[in-house]
Amino acid sequence: MPDNTSIVPGAQLRGHLILPRHVKFDWTAMPVHWLPGDPYATHVINVLHLMFPAGELWFCRVYNKVLPLLTDPRVRADAEGFMRQEAIHARSHEGVVKHYFQAHQIDTRPFTARIDRLFSLYLGDKPFGLKIGKSRFWMCQQLGMIAALEHFFAYLGNWVLNADGLDRAHAHPVMLDLLRWHGAEEVEHRAVAYEVFRNMGGGYIERAFHMLLAMTILIVLFYQGSHFLFRADPGRPVYPGFLSGWRNAAVRGVLPGLGSVLLAAARYFNPWFHPGNEGNTAQALAYLQRSPAASVAVHGGAWRRG
Ligand SMILES: [Fe+2]
Ligand SMILES: [Fe+2]
Repeated sequence: MPDNTSIVPGAQLRGHLILPRHVKFDWTAMPVHWLPGDPYATHVINVLHLMFPAGELWFCRVYNKVLPLLTDPRVRADAEGFMRQEAIHARSHEGVVKHYFQAHQIDTRPFTARIDRLFSLYLGDKPFGLKIGKSRFWMCQQLGMIAALEHFFAYLGNWVLNADGLDRAHAHPVMLDLLRWHGAEEVEHRAVAYEVFRNMGGGYIERAFHMLLAMTILIVLFYQGSHFLFRADPGRPVYPGFLSGWRNAAVRGVLPGLGSVLLAAARYFNPWFHPGNEGNTAQALAYLQRSPAASVAVHGGAWRRG
């Protein structure tokens, strides 16, 4: 473990190479409410599994296009590591869709089709039919959206690493490990998207605009996605309402507080913001060393509950 864990603005952890970890998870016998007795928090967090496969593969497509244009070798090396980590994140959440949702007869396609459209039609290379995918302007907008989303994911990653409420609520250990492994890697590479955006000429006004757009997209997706999953849940639980359900879940410590989420978004508007000042790299790397899935990745096999 490197001891130079302090992040300085404009730099990743010095000497730390961002590498993918080839994790595997075994979703056999995962109960539909992997947070026992808590369909609300289960399904709000489940929205992430619907969002990440399309979203993170879109990150990879944009980065594939931008990599040859990155002039700083350090930023480019970080961007390559970032892209490889995101590809494994997307594939791992796709595994949840294929195995956990299908095992419970939850057909997620009506909702994931909307997310696919968002990333391919509106944020892809021909937004609204315009052939501007290779223009520097559009690449910068795509990178700015990725940087804003990555700020939220690093915030959520830091939250999940510290969310004792999930342990107290007896979250299923395989799902908890998936969330914490992904969260830890989000903390590990939290400065990359921001640095790439800046390397490609992204500035403050664009950054603020992208955060407003990213916040709107995430609020709509969590709202619509949690409704969708409640309707599709074979146990037909009663939906408690988006805001009141969230407030109660935050009190139990199984979701982050709404105020804390809004404050995290607000920090991005600070002209001196840098993602390196969010989260704790040493804590993230320590989790990655003891994560059952990340350890199994070294030795082969899939992590299943003892
Ligand atoms: Fe990710
Ligand atoms: Fe990420």
